[in-house]
Amino acid sequence: MKVKKAVIPAAGIGSRMLPATKSIPKEMLPLVDRPVIQYIVEEAVASGIEDILIITNRGKGPIEDYFDCCPELEGRLEADKKYGFLEAVKTPANLANIFFLRQKETRGLGHAVGRARAFVGNEPFAVLLGDDVMKSKIPVTKQLIDAAEKYGAAAVGTQPVSDEAIVKYSSLKLEAYEKNIFRVTDMVEKPKFEDRFSNYPILGRYVLTPDIFDILDNTAPGVGGEIQLTDALKVLCKQSPMVAVEFEGVRYDTGNMKGFLEAIIDFALDSQETGDWLRSFIKSKAAAL
Ligand code: G1P
Repeated sequence: MKVKKAVIPAAGIGSRMLPATKSIPKEMLPLVDRPVIQYIVEEAVASGIEDILIITNRGKGPIEDYFDCCPELEGRLEADKKYGFLEAVKTPANLANIFFLRQKETRGLGHAVGRARAFVGNEPFAVLLGDDVMKSKIPVTKQLIDAAEKYGAAAVGTQPVSDEAIVKYSSLKLEAYEKNIFRVTDMVEKPKFEDRFSNYPILGRYVLTPDIFDILDNTAPGVGGEIQLTDALKVLCKQSPMVAVEFEGVRYDTGNMKGFLEAIIDFALDSQETGDWLRSFIKSKAAAL
């Protein structure tokens, strides 16, 4: 199974980050020196993906501009001999073949992924949620692709979460295959606590087969009146093999303020440019508490 295409749904309105996201897409908020969505695209590229479809919506124009060339700015940086910035500004346009499609209506994650049928064609493809940023040794999407290839199956990413968190995500019914890989036999989106199958949710990464599109077309609105990808995956996992990969790495939900702050701090601590400075800044702050 060669996975060369990825879909990044980035059509949500960013309601958990208002008012910051009133006129800026949440995917464009900066994590240190790059917007959130660049980390997602870089993970896809590092996983062997060549073609990426970003599903947008009204108000998401800055994402398209970001992955385009910017001749005026590049010319200015070149003239000023600011070669480091010049390189950084040119990079996004050259990461992959990036396509854009507007979802047009806000009808949920399943509906957004369903828009990708023509782009995907008859190939397996990855889905990376536009606000779930991962930090890992091996790109999380690559970990899923490897498992999908090994088992000839669709794959979803997971890690166990707390009792308080599971009701905000989805819950997977699992049987162990090996240490970090499970067979998925059922799932539920945003479960009531007593209805959860396990404390393993789907976390932001998927490798799917194109069979999902017919299923999505026949999926009725679910939780929140939206077409839920999880409801379609529940059907898919009963008709063909699906694995859940407990991936190595840290996942940040940058679509809410606390997750976003955790990501900024961790990435800034890792950065050569800001790491040492931030460590001493945090120590001085901690000492004053
Ligand atoms: C979405 C998915 C859900 C998943 C979650 C975290 O929910 O529908 O199954 O567990 O992302 O990746 P959302 O965060 O959009 O409510």
